[in-house]
Amino acid sequence: MARTGVYFIGARGNVATTAMVGAIAISQGRSPATGMVTDGPEFKGLPLIGVQDLLFGGADVSIKPLPAKAVELANARILPTELAVELKDELETLDKQLHTVKGFAFGSVPDGGYLAELTRIEERLARFRSDNNLDRVVVVNVSSTEPHFAETPDYDTPEQLMKALTTAGGGFTSATLLNALAALRQGCAYVNFTPSQASELPALRKIARDSRLPHAGKDGKTGETLLKTVLGPMFLARNLKVMSWVGNNFLGNNDGAVLDAPASKDSKLRQKDAALREMLGGAFVKTDIQYVPSLGDWKTAWDLIHFQGFLGTPMTMTFTWQGCDSALAAPLVLDLVRLTDLAWQREESGLLAQLAPFFKNPLDGHTHDFHQQMAGLYAWLDVVRAGQSFERK
Ligand SMILES: NC(=O)c1ccc[n+]([C@@H]2O[C@H](COP(=O)([O-])OP(=O)(O)OC[C@H]3O[C@@H](n4cnc5c(N)ncnc54)[C@H](O)[C@@H]3O)[C@@H](O)[C@H]2O)c1
Repeated sequence: MARTGVYFIGARGNVATTAMVGAIAISQGRSPATGMVTDGPEFKGLPLIGVQDLLFGGADVSIKPLPAKAVELANARILPTELAVELKDELETLDKQLHTVKGFAFGSVPDGGYLAELTRIEERLARFRSDNNLDRVVVVNVSSTEPHFAETPDYDTPEQLMKALTTAGGGFTSATLLNALAALRQGCAYVNFTPSQASELPALRKIARDSRLPHAGKDGKTGETLLKTVLGPMFLARNLKVMSWVGNNFLGNNDGAVLDAPASKDSKLRQKDAALREMLGGAFVKTDIQYVPSLGDWKTAWDLIHFQGFLGTPMTMTFTWQGCDSALAAPLVLDLVRLTDLAWQREESGLLAQLAPFFKNPLDGHTHDFHQQMAGLYAWLDVVRAGQSFERK
């Protein structure tokens, strides 16, 4: 059987740690796979790689060892305490697979320049693959959200990109971009779970297409946006006119602290508002994010929807969502790895449009409507079952 590795960028963060602890717990029969879409009945009988067969690795700028990170997550009630305690040995072993990296802050130049940093990342990926004798590596970006940058012609083609990389001050301010580029150049599949810019850039899309590699993104759809893309189509289907949809998100984890910086917040809000804006064209849409340290991982979203019914009668709907961010995200990360691996087994490459329901901003999605997106995923499963090739519209 082919061996598949998962390489997390941001491997010691909340989402990656929860995903790895979850994968071990599921593999050992300690926990059910609740929250994992690919554990549902629609996915039975497909040649999906088993969670127990995934081999994990990754890189992080954090030096906190995984066992200590798991205890931190248990203390924050994200993981059951017994898992953090009982899986200590497995996590210690896994921690040895992780690369502690220097990284570089957005806007700065890494040691030796961008090309040198690219080479270092590529060497780490190559080492992970060869040390573990892997046939396929899926690189998953779960690192801190970076600010949005202007897409200059430097990002248009692989040649322009590589040329600009050799020029100090060429505008390459993003570690996420370099990691994505390294992944594709090293023959890995790439999944971007964050709002940062990566494989959607034309140069990277081309490398993926030319190298026949699958990629998917971006920004996991885990909580408030999931609800928006379920409820938005309901208003549309009933011909109720949404006048305003405003939301406020409160969160207190490290992701919340990162998003408290205006540039990273802007990057996130671009994705969060895109779905509603596109679905409800004309409505007043506004979302904000506030960092509330005491909430930890328990993101609270308050939404107010002001809409008109028959004869213009105004009405209001409000909802409160309190989700544990990492517990919502981690199973989806495992799903994305399994489904990307399945597409790759079938020699599908380029953007995996069928994975749209997993993302706030599906790169090649035709709709934000969650049920339509799921219908697209199920249609793909039928094609997989029938052993046909999948034609993208
Ligand atoms: N949790 C969710 O529901 C959810 C949903 C959608 C998107 N996301 C995104 O997923 C990402 C991860 O979320 P999280 O809660 O795990 O955040 P986190 O802050 O706990 O983890 C991010 C990790 O990335 C590491 N990192 C930063 N720069 C790096 C670099 N250059 N190279 C390697 N590692 C680096 C950090 O040290 C940290 O360990 C964030 O970008 C977040 O916006 C999360």
